[in-house]
Amino acid sequence: MKRLYPRGTLDISWRHLFEALSDCLFGSHQDKTAGAADLREIPIGNAHSSVQGLITISVRSAFDLYLTELNLPQGSEVVMSAVSISDMFRIPEAHGLKVIPVPLSFETLSLSAQDVERSITEQTRLIVVAPLFGSRSCLTEICCIARRHGIIVIEDCAQAWRGALTLTGALDVDDAQDAKADVQMFSFGPIKTATALGGAFVLDKDHQRLLRISSIQTGYPEVAILRTLRRILRFIALKALSSPLAFGVFVWLTSLFGADYDELLFRATRGFQGSDLLEKLRHRPNRVQRNLVLRRLEEPHTDAIEARCNYAAEVLNMLPNGVVPGSEIQIGLGPHDHVHWVLPCESREPGSLIQRLRSAGFDATQRGSSLVHFPMVVPEPVCSENQSRWLTPERLANLVYLPMFPEMGQEQRTRMIDIIRSHFGEQSDVDDNVSLQKNNPC
Ligand SMILES: Cc1ncc(COP(=O)(O)O)c(C=O)c1O
Repeated sequence: MKRLYPRGTLDISWRHLFEALSDCLFGSHQDKTAGAADLREIPIGNAHSSVQGLITISVRSAFDLYLTELNLPQGSEVVMSAVSISDMFRIPEAHGLKVIPVPLSFETLSLSAQDVERSITEQTRLIVVAPLFGSRSCLTEICCIARRHGIIVIEDCAQAWRGALTLTGALDVDDAQDAKADVQMFSFGPIKTATALGGAFVLDKDHQRLLRISSIQTGYPEVAILRTLRRILRFIALKALSSPLAFGVFVWLTSLFGADYDELLFRATRGFQGSDLLEKLRHRPNRVQRNLVLRRLEEPHTDAIEARCNYAAEVLNMLPNGVVPGSEIQIGLGPHDHVHWVLPCESREPGSLIQRLRSAGFDATQRGSSLVHFPMVVPEPVCSENQSRWLTPERLANLVYLPMFPEMGQEQRTRMIDIIRSHFGEQSDVDDNVSLQKNNPC
């Protein structure tokens, strides 16, 4: 049994967990403000302004609420980022809509505006952009195109929360209009930044539409307190695994029982399971969930994000060019920003990298997120010239999520980086040999 630096830790304090637990056990569950209370005003930007948004039980529920409200004709098309979690593709399909996937650039994790425009047809009603791994990209071009065609743009920021103070808000200020999607959805799911163990916050430029969405949600049953209680207890147990020692003991114990800890962790942190997805999504938050989301929304959260970005910069700067998705995102340019929710890199031998790191005491995984690539046949008009630069299904399958553990001491960081560098060094030696053999077939 040895210490193992975990792949990441739950971004929630013990205080929050026990407050939520006590809210569950001792709070009044007679919620007289239910429904209307899901619409909340939060301070943003320099905290002199505020914005009203809707709290839902998940981004998926919010997406379903919009599709319910919009009630689009069957067969309408939804242009979407080709990489997301599978439920985000299942939801429009369950509404009888057709998903038109657009590939993402590996280097910038954004969609090309030209590809989006080429995907638009008479049937297109919605564009859904999903920035990944904590990145956000500038949407001005895509929003202008959408506006010309009378199409709504939804930005699925499930992976990109970075504190309410960084929201520029001003959704109704003219010069900010073009740069913003009509709708922005932020997730507070179990493994997300500033997690509330579940929940989402939705902003909409069209306040009347937000009110309509809210009133649909008001008609849904509330999530049972018992379900929230079970979830809080599960995450208290998972939070206890946050130290390298506790995590090492957990991995050792699971191996004693012949269990796969990767699978166990994946199952323990995933949300809605099984069939009847829409039925599960159609609930409104109970008071305990809403309070927890509100507490997380009102935190600045800047220190935690800064620590994570510094750690990510130190590790990623040591990796060879071309293996880090999003490496060309320019930091510090507002919407072109990256908060490094997770730390992926691409290896042609992901299994070998994971094995080497784990045996040296660092838990890397291929299950850092549940992303899938929507199956796509790319007809010529939709192709951009440089397909090799896309985040293709093959490249997605080769991603390894490195431990995101900013508390790691300098000595351990250096040791981990050395292992990663030596893995990539050996890979490039293999590449050099292969190309030498190709050049000298004799
Ligand atoms: C890109 C993306 N979209 C949507 C979601 C769903 O968020 P939620 O769990 O709040 O429904 C996730 C969750 O991981 C995600 O990564």
